[in-house]
Amino acid sequence: MYLIVGASGFIGNWLYRSLKKRRDKVKGTYFSDNKNIDADDAVYLDLEKGEFGRNAIAGPVKYVVLCHGISSVDRCKLESDKTRKVNVKNTVNYLRTFDPKEMVPLMLSTSMVYNDKDSAPVEDDNPDPIVEYGRQKLEVERFIEESFPRHIILRLTKVFGIQKNDGTIFTSWLDRFEKRETVLAADDLFISPVYVNDVIAVLLALMDKELSGKYNLGGRRIESIHWFCKRVAARFSVPENLVWRVVAKDLGFVETRPKYNSLCSEKVLAATEAKLTDYEKSFDLMAKNYGK
Ligand SMILES: NC(=O)c1ccc[n+]([C@@H]2O[C@H](COP(=O)([O-])OP(=O)(O)OC[C@H]3O[C@@H](n4cnc5c(N)ncnc54)[C@H](OP(=O)(O)O)[C@@H]3O)[C@@H](O)[C@H]2O)c1
Repeated sequence: MYLIVGASGFIGNWLYRSLKKRRDKVKGTYFSDNKNIDADDAVYLDLEKGEFGRNAIAGPVKYVVLCHGISSVDRCKLESDKTRKVNVKNTVNYLRTFDPKEMVPLMLSTSMVYNDKDSAPVEDDNPDPIVEYGRQKLEVERFIEESFPRHIILRLTKVFGIQKNDGTIFTSWLDRFEKRETVLAADDLFISPVYVNDVIAVLLALMDKELSGKYNLGGRRIESIHWFCKRVAARFSVPENLVWRVVAKDLGFVETRPKYNSLCSEKVLAATEAKLTDYEKSFDLMAKNYGK
């Protein structure tokens, strides 16, 4: 059986739905919102208090897929005690309740475990996080590597969806454009967004092929946020004056962000035989959801 920690979240719910479609046995945890998980599969989990109600999970769990946490970079810094408790301390304590000989953890980590110097780092590059969120993720990565002989760590860049109001990068721009609101787009921060459906295909292949180790997954291109924003605006015929070119300093982040939010995906794509969707194709899928 698969257990998705954070099945009520964005990526966790896509994975949950995909496993259900394949008719796999799956349970999913939620914290504040269980509406997207079938009642029979939903397991309440509170990593703030650290009270683990495992009783709802009957039978052996083969994979625990960690799709949970507080991943706002600014919140991790501003509320470091609270976020460390959820993202690190109680995540580790929860993993300790499983038998490392039977269960394989699959952790969703981040490109922010790297520093701000290099574009598209590979798996063997030394992590050196410059933000608290990245430090928290790296601590859990290290615990997993030391404690579970078989494990999968999948580091991701920004993941985007195609549905209205899903809160991801391109759709949140489109949601603002629809209200004729401007988007502030930095031209000195570089991203490589990856489509959530591609992330799910990679996750399923990593588990189906019983792979182990660390993998990096980013999108097809590395460009500035401003470049992507202009491209989305052009595709959806949005007036150019709604895209405001700014620099990172204008955005008032609590911590300096890494210049690059990108990863080299060569290893994971070779291992899983997955392919990345063209941005144009995902924009076309998005357009259908926006009636364009
Ligand atoms: N999305 C990205 O672009 C991206 C990029 C790189 C890495 N990642 C990593 O991928 C994972 C999934 O990201 P996401 O964007 O799908 O996250 P998300 O939508 O914010 O979902 C977070 C999940 O964590 C659960 N959660 C939050 N606080 C909790 C607590 N105190 N106890 C137990 N569960 C709690 C939430 O439950 P409720 O909703 O029920 O409260 C939800 O299921 C995260 O670990 C993130 O760091 C994401």
